Amino acid sequence: MKGKFVDIWQGAILSEHPESIDYYHYLNAEEKQKVSSFIRPELQQKYIKTRGVLRKVLAGYLNEKPEEIKIKIAEYGKPFVEGEFFFNLSHTGNKFVLAVSDVSEIGIDLEQYKQRKNLAGLVKKCFSAVEIKYWESLSEQQQMIFFYQLWVRKEAFVKAIGRGIAVGLDQCVVDPEHQTRFLAIPTEYGCAKEWNIVDIPLNKGDVCAMVIKGVEFAYKQVEIK
Ligand SMILES: CC(C)(COP(=O)(O)OP(=O)(O)OC[C@H]1O[C@@H](n2cnc3c(N)ncnc32)[C@H](O)[C@@H]1OP(=O)(O)O)[C@@H](O)C(=O)NCCC(=O)NCCS
Repeated sequence: MKGKFVDIWQGAILSEHPESIDYYHYLNAEEKQKVSSFIRPELQQKYIKTRGVLRKVLAGYLNEKPEEIKIKIAEYGKPFVEGEFFFNLSHTGNKFVLAVSDVSEIGIDLEQYKQRKNLAGLVKKCFSAVEIKYWESLSEQQQMIFFYQLWVRKEAFVKAIGRGIAVGLDQCVVDPEHQTRFLAIPTEYGCAKEWNIVDIPLNKGDVCAMVIKGVEFAYKQVEIK
């Protein structure tokens, strides 16, 4: 495969589609063992679908059998494969998104808009001063939307660097006026300008963003059954 690309694979965890694939046979022996450890069937289904999709999709890039791909886990929990491909997965409710790229480390986060209690408390904890100031200037409805838009950006960043939220979401500052850019990130992860935020359009009610280094790549979104 040549050229820089970002491919977004998206779909439903429980698919009603008549042609929907049985993903169980893409899992390796250890994962099949794990499937039987889930007590709740919906968690079992979620694991089979997300792991199975990951293996099936990666197999297309790596030219390996899905069940033979070596998926490793980095220090803070981020799954990865050795070599030139980067990926990251997010799931919420019945939906998942998987980003695959050869550009750089990548992070993706998917949420669904919903009213939350004590949004202000969460904002004070996870947003920086400049983000809080902007948030406070908005109407209540706009505040909810802005909260999620920033939240998925911050999460996508902490997932791109593989650290997770322990790194401090308030340290990953999105420019409220230009939401494709970071104003600041923790210094050990380089310069904020190097990282690029991309909105991923999904269905109404979903909010999704991806974070990657660089801006030049071919982009496509693919629905997977
Ligand atoms: C990683 C994290 C940001 C995920 O956020 P979330 O909104 O709950 O979940 P998402 O659906 O968006 O993402 C989950 C997927 O991200 C990936 N993931 C897991 N850990 C990750 C990490 N550190 N960085 C990037 N991606 C990670 C996995 O593919 C995971 O899928 P799985 O649950 O099917 O294995 C969050 O759980 C977190 O911060 N965890 C703490 C990590 C940490 O500090 N671990 C220390 C112990 S070593």
